[in-house]
Amino acid sequence: MPKVVFIENDQRKEVEAPLGSTLLQIAQMHKFDLEGACDHSLACATCHVIVEPQWYDVLPEPVSDELDMLDLAPNLAKTSRLGCQIVMREEYDGLTVRLPKK
Ligand code: FES
Repeated sequence: MPKVVFIENDQRKEVEAPLGSTLLQIAQMHKFDLEGACDHSLACATCHVIVEPQWYDVLPEPVSDELDMLDLAPNLAKTSRLGCQIVMREEYDGLTVRLPKK
């Protein structure tokens, strides 16, 4: 099974990432502090993650609704994404994202 790495408070943790699950679901499965208040409906920014730069271009580009919601996210970075919009695929094995500081 592919893996993803979450970096929370500068600690890296590699976890199993079932294909077809969103990053938000994977984070919640492993008890990371990622809220996802609107449950994948692109109506909040509480699933904000910061993708490590080398992975950013591997992911499909965000749609404009995602970019609009990201504008509301605190601690926005150039490689910010919404975790509920990233669906795990085989080629994302090793994907590394940082949870923004609260
Ligand atoms: Fe609300 Fe991702 S869970 S936008």
